[in-house]
Amino acid sequence: PAPCPPACLSSDPTLFPVLPPAPRHQDPSSTRRLRAWGGLVGAVILTALWLLWLLGSDPGGVLEPQPVVTILIWHWPFTDRPPELPGDTCIHYGMAQCRLSANRSLLASADAVVFHHRELETQKFHLPLAQRPPGQPWIWASMESPSNSHGLRHLRGIFNWVLSYRRDSDIFVPYGRLEPRSGPTPPLPAKRRMAAWVVSNFQERQQRAKLYRQLAPHLRVDVFGRASRRPLCANCLLPTIAQYRFYLSFENSQHRDYITEKFWRNALAAGAVPVVLGPPRATYEAFVPPDAFVHVDDFSSARELAAFLVSMNESRYLRFFAWRDRLSVRLMHDWRERFCAICAHYPHLPRSQVYEDLEGWFQA
Ligand SMILES: *[C@@H]1O[C@H](CO)[C@@H](O)[C@H](O)[C@H]1NC(C)=O
Ligand SMILES: *[C@@H]1O[C@H](CO)[C@@H](O)[C@H](O)[C@H]1NC(C)=O
Repeated sequence: PAPCPPACLSSDPTLFPVLPPAPRHQDPSSTRRLRAWGGLVGAVILTALWLLWLLGSDPGGVLEPQPVVTILIWHWPFTDRPPELPGDTCIHYGMAQCRLSANRSLLASADAVVFHHRELETQKFHLPLAQRPPGQPWIWASMESPSNSHGLRHLRGIFNWVLSYRRDSDIFVPYGRLEPRSGPTPPLPAKRRMAAWVVSNFQERQQRAKLYRQLAPHLRVDVFGRASRRPLCANCLLPTIAQYRFYLSFENSQHRDYITEKFWRNALAAGAVPVVLGPPRATYEAFVPPDAFVHVDDFSSARELAAFLVSMNESRYLRFFAWRDRLSVRLMHDWRERFCAICAHYPHLPRSQVYEDLEGWFQA
């Protein structure tokens, strides 16, 4: 409820202190003094009641402050130099009372500690197990797929919670999402070319490499990235892809819920239609409308897929962008945002849970 000014209390008889009438007294000056005192005491009581009412009406306020949740990031992902983490870091992501720190001397007092898998791997799974305070929740974090995560067998019975792109994670952090659009729909970039693919790690054994080999005879695909010795600078990536009708959002490996920035940023945010190779169509449909992408599983051969893409007329093509009038892409690539999300779940996460078989869970 909105704070109530003192005046509005006066109409509430239960709150208004009924002062007894001043006793009759012979000395008129002492009567005046008594009346003055009575008025003063009344004002003080009223003010005190009003303050109490104000505080009591706001349970998250001064009387019962929510405790700050401190999340220790044991090793910042992919860098030895964590970003600055001022106290209001998580406020920017809508989380109050949530503090991120990379200061390891907080191990004894942190409310939860996050371990990112890549550094566990490179540092031979060295964990501060002997210094772990009893009952301190430990979080295993990774945005990589099981194919690119090794050594999980060393992590049995250690972690309580998981932060990952898997929807059944304790802290689920997708690579992106659609949210209601605010403001006008930006115009669709002009399309001059057919299909683009950016790939830095091309290996023939990968499913995506095989599919590309099958598609290439039937479809003009311009390949960028380190693998083709045509790297694109960070600021050139989206404007380049934007000129293409389609983008090959081929994941490097096919796993449950594994949909990355190849889909969210390179295709949807760039304004190209994603042609997806990854988890089944139903998984994509949990995130975006069914007509926002082309799924390779919908075709019985690469040739058939190519024919569909090449022969499409303009009105059919534009149907892939129907969602843009209502929705816009929100990329979630900042690790600070991902870690701040822990605080949103923190009060409800199961305290006694332990991933006895993290590897089995992750590979399922
Ligand atoms: C880490 O935290 C400790 C204890 O709170 C403090 O003394 C130290 O200065 C901090 N280190 C850094 C680099 O902020
Ligand atoms: C465009 O293609 C769609 C689907 O193939 C078809 O139904 C429609 O009639 C075509 N429109 C024009 C103008 O050719």
